[in-house]
Amino acid sequence: MKYQAILATAILISTSAWATQPDPLVMESRMAIKAFAGELKGELQSAMKAGGPVNAIGVCHTRAPEIAEAINSKGKLNISRVSLKNRNTGNAPDAWQKAVLEEFESRITKGETADKIDHAATVNTANGKEFRYMKAIPTGDICLACHGGNISDDVKAKLDKLYPDDKARGFNKGDIRGAFYVSIPQ
Ligand code: HEC
Repeated sequence: MKYQAILATAILISTSAWATQPDPLVMESRMAIKAFAGELKGELQSAMKAGGPVNAIGVCHTRAPEIAEAINSKGKLNISRVSLKNRNTGNAPDAWQKAVLEEFESRITKGETADKIDHAATVNTANGKEFRYMKAIPTGDICLACHGGNISDDVKAKLDKLYPDDKARGFNKGDIRGAFYVSIPQ
């Protein structure tokens, strides 16, 4: 009994330490995501203001990969976006990412909210150990013009032209639009 009580306290301490001070790799991943998301959202919002969604499609199309590339070229960390219903075929998940995205979907159905869902793991790969972090991307109001169920005809026409295999439509506010993916070789 006594031993179990000590064990329970030890677990309690380690969980609260985790909550106040996350793993440095998780923190590094979250910072990279913040930089990527912040830059992209800023450019998206100004393009939407300047010329509406048809104009802003160009920002997502050209700037999203460029911003990711700029962050990736700075260090050993690699950042990208993936989705179960991807627009760009290059953003289709691999098997590991797909399993995590499916787990995120089941967490939503159990009552968690998209802005709080993430997952971290260290995996063994052919090239050695790799830290991996995924963070769900919630669908907000501003996203619906290009990812919602009621997209205007001019936006549709431009999306059809750029992305003939587009699967990223029909989302509702609060849905998981996809996830940021960060990998850091160890
Ligand atoms: C103006 C239209 C537009 C708006 C508004 C928009 N997106 Fe996108 N989104 C796109 C385009 C175009 C792509 C494909 C980008 C590419 O080619 O890499 C994309 C791709 C994505 C991807 C990468 C996965 C995929 O499907 O290829 C995610 C995640 C994403 N958008 C999330 C969002 C979120 C979250 C919002 C709202 C904050 C949002 N988008 C608003 C047009 C838009």
